Amino acid sequence: MRFLIVTFGLCVLAVPASAQPKAETVESKGGVVVCVSPLAADVGVDILKRGGNAVDAAVAVAFAQAVTWPAAGNIGGGGFMMIAAPGKEVRCIEYRETAPASAKVDLFADGTVGVLDHKAAGVPGTVRGLALAHGKYGKLPWGDVVMPAVKLAEDGFVMNAALAGDLNGVLASSKTTNAEFKRVYGKPGGKEWAEGDKLVLKDLGKTLRVIAEKGADAFYTGEPAELLAKEMKANGGLITKDDLAAYKANDRTPIRTTYRGFDVYGPPPPSSGGLCISQMLNVLENYDLKKLGRWSPETTHLMIETMRRTYADRARSLGDPGFTTIPTTFQDREYAKKLSQSIDPKKATPSAQIATDIVLNKESDSTTHFSIIDKDGMAVSNTYTLENSYGNRVVVPGAGYILNNEMTDFNPKPGITNTKGQIGTKPNQIQPGKRMLSSQTPVIVMKDGKPVLITGSPGGRTIINTVLCVVVNVIDFEMPVAEAVSAPRTHHQWFPDVARFEGASQHPKLVAELKKMGHTVVEQFQGDAHTIGINPKTGVRVGVADKRIDGKAAKE
Ligand code: DON
Repeated sequence: MRFLIVTFGLCVLAVPASAQPKAETVESKGGVVVCVSPLAADVGVDILKRGGNAVDAAVAVAFAQAVTWPAAGNIGGGGFMMIAAPGKEVRCIEYRETAPASAKVDLFADGTVGVLDHKAAGVPGTVRGLALAHGKYGKLPWGDVVMPAVKLAEDGFVMNAALAGDLNGVLASSKTTNAEFKRVYGKPGGKEWAEGDKLVLKDLGKTLRVIAEKGADAFYTGEPAELLAKEMKANGGLITKDDLAAYKANDRTPIRTTYRGFDVYGPPPPSSGGLCISQMLNVLENYDLKKLGRWSPETTHLMIETMRRTYADRARSLGDPGFTTIPTTFQDREYAKKLSQSIDPKKATPSAQIATDIVLNKESDSTTHFSIIDKDGMAVSNTYTLENSYGNRVVVPGAGYILNNEMTDFNPKPGITNTKGQIGTKPNQIQPGKRMLSSQTPVIVMKDGKPVLITGSPGGRTIINTVLCVVVNVIDFEMPVAEAVSAPRTHHQWFPDVARFEGASQHPKLVAELKKMGHTVVEQFQGDAHTIGINPKTGVRVGVADKRIDGKAAKE
């Protein structure tokens, strides 16, 4: 397959050259693992075959992807893991990065600190998050689930076309300047990587071995922590040994909403994902979308208007719940009804007319998701990230892992909200020890207490809408899950006041109608939703690798 290197901001992605998104599926009544890295999918299935449950497999996949999908798989970043264990309440293991103690509200305000700066890194959460999930749910010993990643890093692994293309893209960028990143990820001799080349990551293997043998705490208090603190000090970074030692992952109650008889569970703040999905579904439940038709201008218009209003509310009020009061409106059906009544069925509402309480100033994305179910029906929906592809493109010397640039998910300029999409409202301004607001939306949809859909996606602020599209395709339009994943997606985020639609070439009439209603429409690739659908009647699980980037659906 031919790959195009696509850059979204600093997200460098190798996407298939064909415009039509593809999906690869597997069917099974046993365990299924779907993720972006085929090697990591195999690791997950192997863990299931060895008697591990979905959480064991998830922890192993997450560590393996830190080796085999370095754009977003990580130990230097953070994320959210939704877990539905049979007979237990659904939980969210939240391992979002945190602002270091010395972080100031105006870190990015004068533009001197860039997104690839050492200062852009938040305190990494992944290792303690995976350990928390494993400690509460895992069956296999910790060392057994970390060791496959150690082996992949130490012995090396064979690259596929997607990874070779992706790495070549980031290495060729003039913005990639970190010498250690180039040394570790550059092809010896300076040539371009090709499919079939082997990548060995010795230092990363050493760090993973420390984690496997000494436990997660060693990453936060042992030699890897020393190495990170040293790298920070030498380069003006903010993270100290104290910040690392103080980092805590949280076991949180997820956001639950019901939608047309299904229970939809998403991550709570500091992700905006669960609340925004809840509000959008609550608004859309006021319409008979099925009757309107999936590709009618009315349905897409209603979805765009719902997104626009919800993202305005997101901008106004969401942030780390430890620092800001989260309003109840996102789950309030009366409020959702009022929002639906504010939508003109025939006309776009200009974003500037919404949330007029937020003063607009005149001045002027990588992540990865995987879904797992085991033979007993335990479901895991995990999204984790370094923020941009390859984070801040800094490799910690001696420790071999890439650092996130998640601090850029805080509102960069206090008080400055503009029509380009920059947000400056208070709830998500930088404060020491605060989690930056996320859009990661790993979701589990349940029917009668059993999972029927496990989904999520990368894509920055588009994530929530990618998940909304998949959920609506499955629930309202009863699409087979592969079709629901492949179908063109829509995005609107309040500002910029532009609707993105993946399927403009497939649906020219729909786009023409949207334009007549007053929407500005652009065609843009959106997300990579590795999904599992479970037929509640037959118990058959269909794993769908969303081949918009790469991926594999594998079964036990
Ligand atoms: O947590 C968030 O919302 C972002 N840091 C996610 C970034 C992302 O998805 C970039 N990639 N495509």
